[in-house]
Amino acid sequence: MWRVSLLWSDKMVVMSKSINMLSLRDEECMRDERDARVFALYEQLLEIEQRLIPTGLHVFGRPSAPAEKADLLKMIASFDRPEAGIRALPDTLIDEAVREFVENGAETAVLFLEQNANLSAEATHPVFALLETVSTKLQTNNELNSLVRALRAEFIEPGPGADIVQNPDILPTGRNTHAINPYGVPSAAAFARSENVANSLLDRYKKENGRYPEAMALVLWGLDNIKTQGEGVAQALWLLGTRPVRDALNRTTTVEPIPLTELGRPRIDVVMTVSGIFRDLFSPTVQLLDKAVRLVAQLDEPLELNYVRKHVVQQVEQDASDPDDAAVRVFSNAPGNYGTNVNFMVVDSQWESEETLGDLFVTRKCFAYGRDSKGRAIEGREARVAMDRALSRVEATYQNIDTFEIGLTDVDHYFEYLGGVSKAVEKRAQARPAIYLSDSLSRDVKIRSLEETVRLETRAKTLNPKWYEGMLKHGFRGVAEIENHVSNTFGWSATADAVDDWIYSEVANTFLFDDSMLDRLRDLNPHSAHSLVQRLLEANGRGYWEVDESVLEKLRDISRSLEDELEGVA
Ligand code: BEZ
Ligand code: MG
Repeated sequence: MWRVSLLWSDKMVVMSKSINMLSLRDEECMRDERDARVFALYEQLLEIEQRLIPTGLHVFGRPSAPAEKADLLKMIASFDRPEAGIRALPDTLIDEAVREFVENGAETAVLFLEQNANLSAEATHPVFALLETVSTKLQTNNELNSLVRALRAEFIEPGPGADIVQNPDILPTGRNTHAINPYGVPSAAAFARSENVANSLLDRYKKENGRYPEAMALVLWGLDNIKTQGEGVAQALWLLGTRPVRDALNRTTTVEPIPLTELGRPRIDVVMTVSGIFRDLFSPTVQLLDKAVRLVAQLDEPLELNYVRKHVVQQVEQDASDPDDAAVRVFSNAPGNYGTNVNFMVVDSQWESEETLGDLFVTRKCFAYGRDSKGRAIEGREARVAMDRALSRVEATYQNIDTFEIGLTDVDHYFEYLGGVSKAVEKRAQARPAIYLSDSLSRDVKIRSLEETVRLETRAKTLNPKWYEGMLKHGFRGVAEIENHVSNTFGWSATADAVDDWIYSEVANTFLFDDSMLDRLRDLNPHSAHSLVQRLLEANGRGYWEVDESVLEKLRDISRSLEDELEGVA
């Protein structure tokens, strides 16, 4: 877990600089075009500014500092929570209202909003009651105590596993995480929220390609679906054009088709690659997803409006495939196995061609799960041919991002999964798929391309002084985190060629070509500093970063001096 804090960039400074630059071209630029550009720039800056970022590592057993606490409270207060009768605080006054609350208490904050926003005390009381509870719980920290008790094999009280902003009931920390009832997934709320995400995703693809994708590959993770009560699952069901159906015991055990007239678009063929954790925790959900695909494949509908059926029919005709095999769409590791190993291969530089990365992904994930038409369970049957075939039709890949805490460059798992499957598709479909991510936590659902997300993450985290200074406060570990971010960014070059040249150049400028920064890294953790230089050189060597020879020469010098130091020569 990272500490989180709201990032506040110097928006106005950057904006005025950009506007000056634009004014030089005033003569050529139509006024409208200029305004549109300024507006687009403004929107991008706002997006970076409003990004919630980790500003350091969580120290086990230590409660949040006051500034972090205030930032978290602001975030919590910015969401409507209809189930608890709570309305979000107004955007324009949220900073001041939370400051009043932290400094002078709930009553003063209520009064402040009454006077300044004409909001009744009745309307704002519930949100401050929630902030009061969260604030008290953030003060207590049972982590060390619970750890010691757990080591003594004592009972540790359970609490829900979720994102803190989405569900503040996860506090206090230091409890056992209880997961979820898989039969409750997707929750009604998750299913309702996901309609918009699935539509936005398809709209974006259609805008860029002039038509719907016939097939998509989705990555589904266990922890994410616990946190969101199954948003990823719900998105898959929407793309297929199905809705979950509860049985007499209120368990989601089956699905029904949404009529095409209601859906208003074709049913998309969805290939699901699920993590080992998802397979273990959500066994009934794996069955549900497989059932949804098989149901859709059998609907008597025009092939141009039902891509699942279209592809199954084609495969049976062209490959003389067994219809059961042709409808396999849920893939995971072999039973008892986890992960793709693509991350290890990339981080250890143990690969020659990029193709190997996609092939490794398929080797690890080509095990089918579900139930055949005779009702016999398929529990991790090796199905490489079926997976190759399913991926060969994929035109877009996608993963839902559900938390502010962990993004694309924080961990190596995003590139091992979404990058891995995209690289596998590229070879099998003989075209790079469009790669998308969603930000389902934001109030307005936002679909971004992978390239856009990498840029945003880089600006908000890796190159943001608030982020890296927060990390550097942790000394040795902080430098390792910076290096990890650069390696994870590199993972997006290796698996998806999704990293702009300027990103590597700015990493070099920020961390290596600034003498005082380089000295700090060298003092705190010369090993990670050396790995960082090596990774940049590798990015160039593998063709992901075009840069002047003079820059490479400087990097090699730095690398040599760090090696000398590590070997005790310097
Ligand atoms: C999961 O929750 O499924 C997951 C966690 C870490 C890495 C990959 C997947
Ligand atoms: Mg490039």
